[in-house]
Amino acid sequence: MRIDIISVAPNLLDSPFNHSIVKRAKDRGFVEIVIHDLREYGLGNYKQIDDTQFGGGAGMVMMIEPIANCIRKLQSERTYDEVIYMTPDAKTLNQGTANTLSLKENILILTGHYKGVDQRIRDTFITKEISIGDYVLTGGELAAAVLVDAVVRLIPGVIGDEQSALTDSFQDNLLSPPVYTRPANFEGKKVPEILLSGNFPKIDDWRSDKAYERTAQIRPDLLKDD
Ligand code: ADE
Repeated sequence: MRIDIISVAPNLLDSPFNHSIVKRAKDRGFVEIVIHDLREYGLGNYKQIDDTQFGGGAGMVMMIEPIANCIRKLQSERTYDEVIYMTPDAKTLNQGTANTLSLKENILILTGHYKGVDQRIRDTFITKEISIGDYVLTGGELAAAVLVDAVVRLIPGVIGDEQSALTDSFQDNLLSPPVYTRPANFEGKKVPEILLSGNFPKIDDWRSDKAYERTAQIRPDLLKDD
């Protein structure tokens, strides 16, 4: 898979993609992540990328030309399965979206700043808009990092134990059950007996029950049919 990201603050993306599982996925050739500095497509001597909004109002809007030029250049080099815009005014990212995106070949992600991008960018180039939650970040970079992290770990082979990604919270619309490791007794706080029993069908049942209990308690909305 190849992921291209357009950003006005590319440095913000240095760290998230250069550590741990995402770095290993890159090193092993499962994913290529390329960051493009939008400033390079800015207009005039000052490399302008934003301007005041028509109709008045506080805050700058990212201009259409630099973004259009950048997206068109990238699209001339490859076909993108999705051109995604990270923005708080969109549907919220969930595991289903991450699963779907993990099967794609080429994804282009546009990150916004200030008041966002000129609406005509969204109307013309964007095939999918994603928010990572009902709060506003200073820019879309960290949101893009969250999306990429959630997607990359699902690419087959990236996580050693494939079962591990499949049994995550949300894969079946349930939160994960509690997990324990050694010691079996910490200052009198004991691990549930069933987990030490070696009876794996019973352990599976216990985990399902706990996952359901936890979901009903913390996120009952996940149990509603939609
Ligand atoms: N940009 C700013 N806030 C955001 C959010 N919550 N999700 C996606 N992109 C954003």
